[in-house]
Amino acid sequence: MSIDKIGILGAGRAGTALARAAASGGIHVTIAGSRPARLMKYHLAQYAPQAIAVDAADIAKDVQLVALMVPQEDLDDIDSESLAGSLLIDATNRWNDEPLPHWLQSAIDRGLSSSEAIAEHFSQSRMAKALNHISHWDLDADRASKSAARRALGIAADSPQDAALVASLVCQLGFTPVQLPDLAAGQALEPTGQIFNEVLGAEEFIRRIGSENQV
Ligand SMILES: NC(=O)c1ccc[n+]([C@@H]2O[C@H](COP(=O)([O-])OP(=O)(O)OC[C@H]3O[C@@H](n4cnc5c(N)ncnc54)[C@H](OP(=O)(O)O)[C@@H]3O)[C@@H](O)[C@H]2O)c1
Repeated sequence: MSIDKIGILGAGRAGTALARAAASGGIHVTIAGSRPARLMKYHLAQYAPQAIAVDAADIAKDVQLVALMVPQEDLDDIDSESLAGSLLIDATNRWNDEPLPHWLQSAIDRGLSSSEAIAEHFSQSRMAKALNHISHWDLDADRASKSAARRALGIAADSPQDAALVASLVCQLGFTPVQLPDLAAGQALEPTGQIFNEVLGAEEFIRRIGSENQV
């Protein structure tokens, strides 16, 4: 299984870093910010020249998956209908100083991880947690050095098929995928988890999350 086409929602630091890394791996990238596509020309020329700007409403069209790379406080502005039926990678993070949409805060207060809460909100989409625990600097690093380092990136999803698809993307970006058993286990990847922002090979990654948490 290989990834040929992805959409990225969010054209900031994280979104454009993924766009550059994916494009350099031969993946066709469409990207959307909060502005209409026609106003993205100069921004993309500077930050993600190989990516194609589309309107946010069209981000899920004709791609294998969509990476969600907008701040959580802006999730309310995203039309969940436009993402219906697609596989979403939740690459967002919960920061304590960030005001959250009411539905997200109340789901977290009910004990859900932020990804489970986001999955509940975007219930017409499938969800995987990934690409959130690496900084945009490291995501964007030169492919040869990434391959040499073989840094492990975690993938948490309830569907093994979806996890495998995201694992393909992670490999194509030059990293080593580590699959966690379900979406809830993705808490380990969040800012309060054991893995966040840690540069680890697969062996040490698995040791930290516990082998029972690896598929
Ligand atoms: N920065 C990192 O190293 C990094 C790494 C992994 C994960 N993350 C996570 O990724 C998320 C984004 O972080 P960031 O650092 O990339 O933030 P950022 O630089 O502030 O960029 C946010 C982007 O989201 C766009 N956006 C906001 N509302 C939108 C909407 N309704 N539809 C489409 N696009 C929208 C903004 O577009 P406009 O500018 O047009 O408003 C902007 O391009 C956060 O949850 C963060 O924790 C960040």
